[in-house]
Amino acid sequence: MVSDVQSNGGLPAWASRALLTTAVLIATSALAADVLDGNALKRLVHQDCGSCHGLSLKGGLGPDLRSKSLEHYDANVLTDVILDGIPGTAMPPWRPLISEEEAEWIAHYLLEQEEQ
Ligand code: HEC
Repeated sequence: MVSDVQSNGGLPAWASRALLTTAVLIATSALAADVLDGNALKRLVHQDCGSCHGLSLKGGLGPDLRSKSLEHYDANVLTDVILDGIPGTAMPPWRPLISEEEAEWIAHYLLEQEEQ
């Protein structure tokens, strides 16, 4: 006995995946436009900066970035170090990757971190 062909009624899987990807892309570029996304920046600090400075920023190839170690920095100087790096060392300039506002956010984040 031959059963009826079943219809699953919905979009094929590839089509819903494509729609989802588009929605995520739109959401991401809306955030990149001008709103500072604190969670994304925290992720960047711990993952990207952390790849050299240690995931918990206690130091690795690069020095300890916890607030106690940075207290001699003023937020503006720290912002410049992040944007321009430290020439002649492995500390890279971040200007090509993040905006000045984002660097300033990271500087304040580093200076105001709770003791870990
Ligand atoms: C490729 C490795 C690398 C990455 C990635 C990196 N750094 Fe560094 N960073 C270094 C090194 C090495 C130094 C020490 C340079 C020196 O000898 O003065 C340093 C120094 C610093 C200093 C000065 C610290 C002090 O005590 O004077 C700050 C602040 C800093 N980095 C912040 C950051 C931030 C914020 C990020 C992420 C946006 C980041 N770094 C990503 C390698 C890195």
